[in-house]
Amino acid sequence: MSEFELSATPPKSVRTRGSQRSIIRELLKLASKPDVISFAGGLPSPKSFPVEAIEKATDWVLEHHGAQALQYSSTEGEPALRKAIAERETELSAPVEADNIQIVSGSQQALDLIGSAYVDEGSVIAVENPTYLGALSAFKLQRPTFLTIPTDEYGLNPDKIGPEFRGIRFAYVIPTFQNPTGITLSEERRKKLAEKAREYDFWIIEDNPYGELWYDHQPPKPIRCYAPERTLTLGTFSKVLSPGFRLGYVVGPKTALDPLIVLKQAVDLHTSTFTQLISARCLDTGLMNAHMPAVRELYKTQCSCMLEALEKYFPQGTSWTKPDGGMFIWVTLPEYINTDEMMKEALDRKVAYVPGSAFYANEPELNKMRLSFVTVPPEKIDAGIKILAQLVKERIDAREAK
Ligand SMILES: Cc1ncc(COP(=O)(O)O)c(C=O)c1O
Repeated sequence: MSEFELSATPPKSVRTRGSQRSIIRELLKLASKPDVISFAGGLPSPKSFPVEAIEKATDWVLEHHGAQALQYSSTEGEPALRKAIAERETELSAPVEADNIQIVSGSQQALDLIGSAYVDEGSVIAVENPTYLGALSAFKLQRPTFLTIPTDEYGLNPDKIGPEFRGIRFAYVIPTFQNPTGITLSEERRKKLAEKAREYDFWIIEDNPYGELWYDHQPPKPIRCYAPERTLTLGTFSKVLSPGFRLGYVVGPKTALDPLIVLKQAVDLHTSTFTQLISARCLDTGLMNAHMPAVRELYKTQCSCMLEALEKYFPQGTSWTKPDGGMFIWVTLPEYINTDEMMKEALDRKVAYVPGSAFYANEPELNKMRLSFVTVPPEKIDAGIKILAQLVKERIDAREAK
């Protein structure tokens, strides 16, 4: 036996001692087999990558700033990129300066840094119910207490935010084309959430990876516009340019970014200079504005195709969200159907989804599932939804036969 096959580890830290492999995660590994129709992934469509434009931008960077691109750079991020992002954020939402932008290695890193900077063991943080699995994983490292924000079919309901929110560290929210539900919060609710944050004195962490992926009309402005003094907004290039770049950013008051800089210095010194300069070039040459309409059209078509298939095959007693953008549809089945349990059989029939239970901080709802429609070709969307519908029907029929 080689020494690497031994399962010994150095003594584990408190942070990793409790961490376990999840059964769902193990099952989802099977979803990547080529014969499985997988609605489980959170990956953007490879068709959305502007390969040629990135090749041009890369050549330009190497020709004009070759040495700089290959060198270390500052923890805050490359000035050219911070400036380009500040201009774009100003155009799309509310005015900011380059100083209000912290570059990070994907918005996932921002979640980890924010957890480390602003959460202690037992601190209360509020999250939507359901919310992004990766945020829960990042925040859980700090062992917080999660408070869930009551949610209805229109997303989180700020009217339900009461005195129990006073003094919490922050509320983490994904107001636009939410992961996992695809729901977008109305302007009215955004404003109300900002008011509640002031009333009960908490910060808002606004995660906005999907805002540019709208289909027919732009979503309401980010929450940052309504409470700029107490909001950190996370942006990323993952869904608009390339997740492989591992490039994201945080927008907010400089004072609130400073602790993140100290931590980031310890974590990775800085984000790749090379991808920062390529992305800055893409922004400066207007690539985003030129490239996004095709991505929006592609996702809109894929989404319509899945909605049609759900309508065609799914039985009575089921329902689903109808997103105006983003990558996900959230399906609700009758309460007695457990999507964790159904997953194994779905994989046997070569189709995969993410069981809803993965997205809850506290009590999971077991009759939900998240379907991603962006990477599967239309004919396979139809075939995969038909198989899922059959699985659901069998469970409904079995219940009714009792
Ligand atoms: C809501 C949300 N936040 C953050 C991330 C992480 O994205 P990034 O690639 O920027 O780290 C994702 C990825 O899917 C996401 O859905």
